[in-house]
Amino acid sequence: MGCMHEIFEKRWSARGLDPAATIPASDVAEILDAARWAPTWGGTQPVRMIVGVRGDEVFDAIAATLAPGNDWALSASALVLMTTRADAEDENAHTYGAVDLGLAAAQLILQATALGYTAHPMAGFESGLAVETFEIPAGHRPLLVVSIGSLADPATLSPKIQARDTKERTRLPLTEVAFGAHWGRPTPLLEP
Ligand SMILES: Cc1cc2nc3c(=O)[nH]c(=O)nc-3n(C[C@H](O)[C@H](O)[C@H](O)COP(=O)(O)O)c2cc1C
Repeated sequence: MGCMHEIFEKRWSARGLDPAATIPASDVAEILDAARWAPTWGGTQPVRMIVGVRGDEVFDAIAATLAPGNDWALSASALVLMTTRADAEDENAHTYGAVDLGLAAAQLILQATALGYTAHPMAGFESGLAVETFEIPAGHRPLLVVSIGSLADPATLSPKIQARDTKERTRLPLTEVAFGAHWGRPTPLLEP
């Protein structure tokens, strides 16, 4: 183990963002472009993004939808509201629309990481308010807000944010999530 690409090791969901850091429009465009190139179900491309940078109206409007627990994201340099297809008639389109958004968000986050930013997905926002504010048409549903920012000097952070950001990050062992022929039993491919 230990040969995972460094981009995956670098990525984490930080909350302690530098409230003075900014992001140039060219970097925002590169990050959104990475999301655009994500795979989609049947090539349907159902994902749309609404983006603002701190100080502009769009940023403030996305920020206004965030749950109180996501206040830390007000220090982001950019906020991206991601929507995907909603289709009550077609269960596949509805389900895979969410998968497509997840893949697009992953590519967005990793491209932001590659450019030296830190990006953090959030489901904690008021979807109905987002629909109302941005007049999101029927057939589209907002599922995620992603913050893009720069890490703050830890000394400037509140003890609460400091504690969250220094908490150990763990995952289930690979042997508990990757199976072979029998559910719950690790694939023999993991044996040394
Ligand atoms: C769909 C989704 C929704 C999330 N919503 C929030 C959120 O509202 N607020 C938050 O602080 N983090 C949120 N997160 C971030 C997770 O808490 C974080 O990814 C998880 O704890 C693992 O930490 P890591 O990203 O540093 O590996 C969300 C992540 C995902 C994938």
